[in-house]
Amino acid sequence: MSKIIVTGGLGYIGSHTVVNLLEDGFDVVIVDDLSNSQHDILRRIETITGKQPEFLQLDISVRDNVMSVLRRHSDADAIIHFAASKAVGESVENPLLYYRNNLNSMIFLLEGMQETGIPNMVFSSSCTVYGQPDKLPVTESTPFRPAESPYGNTKQICEEIIRDVCNANKNIQAIALRYFNPVGAHDSHLIGELPRGVPNNLVPYITQTAAGILPELRIFGDDYDTPDGTPVRDYIHVVDLAIAHRVALRRLLDRRQKNNYEYFNLGTGNGYTVLEVVKAFEKATGVQLRYRIVARRPGDVEKIWADTTLANRELGWKAERSLHDMMKSAWEWQLHLRDHPELLGS
Ligand code: NAD
Ligand code: WQD
Repeated sequence: MSKIIVTGGLGYIGSHTVVNLLEDGFDVVIVDDLSNSQHDILRRIETITGKQPEFLQLDISVRDNVMSVLRRHSDADAIIHFAASKAVGESVENPLLYYRNNLNSMIFLLEGMQETGIPNMVFSSSCTVYGQPDKLPVTESTPFRPAESPYGNTKQICEEIIRDVCNANKNIQAIALRYFNPVGAHDSHLIGELPRGVPNNLVPYITQTAAGILPELRIFGDDYDTPDGTPVRDYIHVVDLAIAHRVALRRLLDRRQKNNYEYFNLGTGNGYTVLEVVKAFEKATGVQLRYRIVARRPGDVEKIWADTTLANRELGWKAERSLHDMMKSAWEWQLHLRDHPELLGS
C-alpha cells in the first residue's frame, strides 16, 4: 500500500483529497498545524471513510518539524503539499508571514526529500501565477505575469524552486497543479470550506448572504470588458479537484511523467461572470440573492479561465461537475452548517 504524507490535510482542499485517497486504498499521514483548520475534521474524515489516518499536529515552516516527519516516514512514496497561508489581502498586509510560511515549508520539504529519498511531490499551485493573461483561455505555457500579491508571488517562487530542484536532482519527481477557483463541498456534508470571519471569496460570500448571515453581496465592478461587465473566472468543484490529486499521484507513482517536473491547469475550462454565478446560484437553490454593484476590488483580474487540454490528455482527468452542481453543493453545505453549528468549531 502506498504511503502519502499530506501537508495541510485538514484544510479545505486537503481534507477532500485525503478522503479520496483513503477511499482508494492509500495509507495517509496528515501533517497540519491547525492554523486554518480544526482537529474535528480528522474525526469527520474517519466517519466518511471508516479509516484512521495518522495525524501529526506540526508547523512545517519549522525545519526540525519537517525533518522529523520525513525521517520517521522515510518509506513514504510521495508528499502532497497543500499547507500554506492563502489570504491574498492578508499577504499584502503581512508579506513576511507569507514568505516565511509558504517558502520555508517548500524548501524544508524538498531538503527533506533529498535527504530521506522520498521521491515524489504534488504541489498546490494556483491560477494566480498567470495574473491577467493576454490570451484566453490560459495554457500551461502562458508566461507568468508579475504577481499581484505576496501570496501570488509565493506560488510563482515555489514553482520555480521545484523546477530548479527537479533540474538538479533527477531522483525527485514533482507535479504542480494550478487550481482555478475551487468551490463546493463533499456530498456527506461533513467537510467543506470553513472561512474564518467574513469570507473573501465569492461563493462562500453568496451562500452566507443567502443564509442571512451577511446582509447583501457586493459585486466588485460591472465595467469590465466581459459579456455583462463583471469579471470572469473558472470555478471548479472541490471534489473534482480532489480526484485530480489522486490521478496526478498515480502518474508519479507509475513513472508516467514526460519530465520529472510537470504542471497542469485544473479548471473546468468554462468561464463564468460574477452575475452568471449569482443567477446559477438562484436557479440551483430557488433562493433570491440580495446584491449591489460597488467599485472594483483592487488587484482583481478582469477575466481568466483554463485551457484544460493538457490535464485532460496527460492525466486522463476532466472536471465532471457543472456550475449548477457547484452552487447546489455549496448551498447544501451552508444549510448543513446552519443546522449543525458545532461543525464550525470554536
Ligand atoms: P486551507 O487554509 O483550508 O488549508 C491549508 C491547511 O494548511 C490548513 O489546514 C492549515 O491549518 C494548514 N497549514 C497552513 N500553514 C501550515 C504550516 N506551516 N504547517 C502545517 N500546516 C499548515 O486552504 P485550501 O483552500 O485548502 O488551500 C490548500 C492549498 O491550495 C494552499 O496551498 C492554497 O494556497 C492552494 N490554493 C487554494 C485555492 C483556493 O481558492 N482555496 C486556490 C488555489 C490554490
Ligand atoms: C471571484 C470573483 C471578485 C467576492 C482568489 C485568489 C486566487 C485564488 C482563488 C488561491 C472576482 C468577485 C468576490 C465578493 C465579488 N486563490 N467577488 N464580491 O479573486 O478569482 O481568486 O481565489 O490561490 O489567488 O485571489 O476569487 O472568489 O475572491 O473572486 O464581486 O464579495 O468574484 O471581484 O471577480 P479570485 P474570489
